[in-house]
Amino acid sequence: MGTVVQVGLGERSYPILIKKGLMVEIGSDLKKRNIAKRWAVVSDDTVAGLYGEMLMKSLADAGVEAELITFPHGEENKHLQTIAGLASKLAQQGFDRKDGLIALGGGVTGDITGFLAAVYMRGIPFVQIPTTLLAQVDSSVGGKTGVDIPEGKNLVGCFYQPGVVYIDPAVLQTLPKEEILGGLAEVIKYGVIVDADFFDYLADKKDEILALDDEVIIKVVARCCEIKASVVEQDEREGGLRRILNFGHTIGHAVEAASGYRLIHGLAIAIGMRAVADLAVYSGLLSKEAALRIEKIIKDYGMPSAIPDGMDPDQIKGYLKTDKKTVGGKVFYVLPTEIGKVTITDNVRESDVDKVIAA
Ligand SMILES: NC(=O)c1ccc[n+]([C@@H]2O[C@H](COP(=O)([O-])OP(=O)(O)OC[C@H]3O[C@@H](n4cnc5c(N)ncnc54)[C@H](O)[C@@H]3O)[C@@H](O)[C@H]2O)c1
Repeated sequence: MGTVVQVGLGERSYPILIKKGLMVEIGSDLKKRNIAKRWAVVSDDTVAGLYGEMLMKSLADAGVEAELITFPHGEENKHLQTIAGLASKLAQQGFDRKDGLIALGGGVTGDITGFLAAVYMRGIPFVQIPTTLLAQVDSSVGGKTGVDIPEGKNLVGCFYQPGVVYIDPAVLQTLPKEEILGGLAEVIKYGVIVDADFFDYLADKKDEILALDDEVIIKVVARCCEIKASVVEQDEREGGLRRILNFGHTIGHAVEAASGYRLIHGLAIAIGMRAVADLAVYSGLLSKEAALRIEKIIKDYGMPSAIPDGMDPDQIKGYLKTDKKTVGGKVFYVLPTEIGKVTITDNVRESDVDKVIAA
C-alpha cells in the first residue's frame, strides 16, 4: 500500500501515493480509478528514455490505453510553443474531453502537462508522476501550472489540480547529484518555515538522506507533501498563507536570474534562504544562533550558502524589483522568526538588503 498523503480540497481533493517500486503498479491503480478513457503520457526526452518503457508496460499490462508524447528537456523548453506543439499532437491523435494526461518527469514536465491539461479542450484530467526530488516534494503538489515567457518565469499559467500523484523514490537513483541537492534545499525550506522537529530530523539524518536511504527518503518526501498539502488546503490560490512557501525564493530567484540560470533553482534557493536568515537577524526578528543553524545545515549538505563571486549586486537588486512576488512595487520577504516559524514583511531596511547581497 505504501504511504498515502491526502490533499483535501473539497471536490478537487486527491491522494499522493508514495512507495518504492510504485512505477510498475501505476497501470493497475489508474485502471481502478477510472479517471479517463485514454491517456497521453507527456515526458521530456531524458525521462522518457529512462522510464517511458517501464510506465507504458505497466499501463498496457493493466489494459490502460496510452500514448507517449515527448518534448525536449530543460527549462528553456517550458514555453507556449511547446504547449502548442503538444496540443497539436493530442488533436492529431484524436484525444478528446474524456481523455487525460500523465506528467512523467520533473517540475518542467509537471508544469507543462498541468497547463496543457487545463487548456486542452477547456480542461481534461491529469495525473502527476514526479521524477525529480524537487517535483516529488514541491511542484507536483498544489496545482500550480504554467510556462515561461521572455519577460519572466512562470508568467503564464493557472491553478489546476491533478487527480492523483504517484511518487516512486526509486527513480531518484538516476537523478544527477546536483538535482538531488536542489530538491533538498526545498526540503530544508519546509523545516524552517513550519516544522522545527523536521528541521532537526534533517540535520540528524543527513548521511542517510544524501545516500537516498529508502526508508528515510520516503519519510522525508511524505512529510514535505503533508506540509505542502496543509498549506495549500488553507490557501489554494496564494492569497496569503501559501506565500510562506516562497521562503528563500525572492532573493533566490534574483540570484538564479543574475547567474543567467546557470545556477540551478534549488541551489539558488539555498543561497536565498541563508540570505534572508541574515536579513531576519538584521531586522531584529531572528536570533543569531538560529541563523547560524540555518547556514550550517545548508553547508553541511554541501549546498552553496553565499552568492557566488563575480555576480553583480546591482543586477541582483534589479531582479528583486521585477520579481512577480513584488506587490505594488514593494518587495516582500518571508523572514524566519525562529526555526519552524516565519513572517511575511516588506518592512526591511534597504541598507540591510544591500548588506546581505554584498556579503
Ligand atoms: N508548480 C509548482 O508548484 C512548482 C514549484 C517549484 C518549481 N516549479 C518548477 O519546476 C521546474 C524545476 O523542476 P525540476 O528541478 O524538476 O526540473 P526538470 O523538470 O527540468 O528536471 C531536471 C532535469 O532532470 C532530468 N530528470 C528528471 N527526472 C530524472 C530522473 N529520475 N533521472 C535522471 N534525470 C531526470 C530532466 O530531464 C531534466 O533535465 C521549474 O520550471 C520551476 O518553475 C514548479
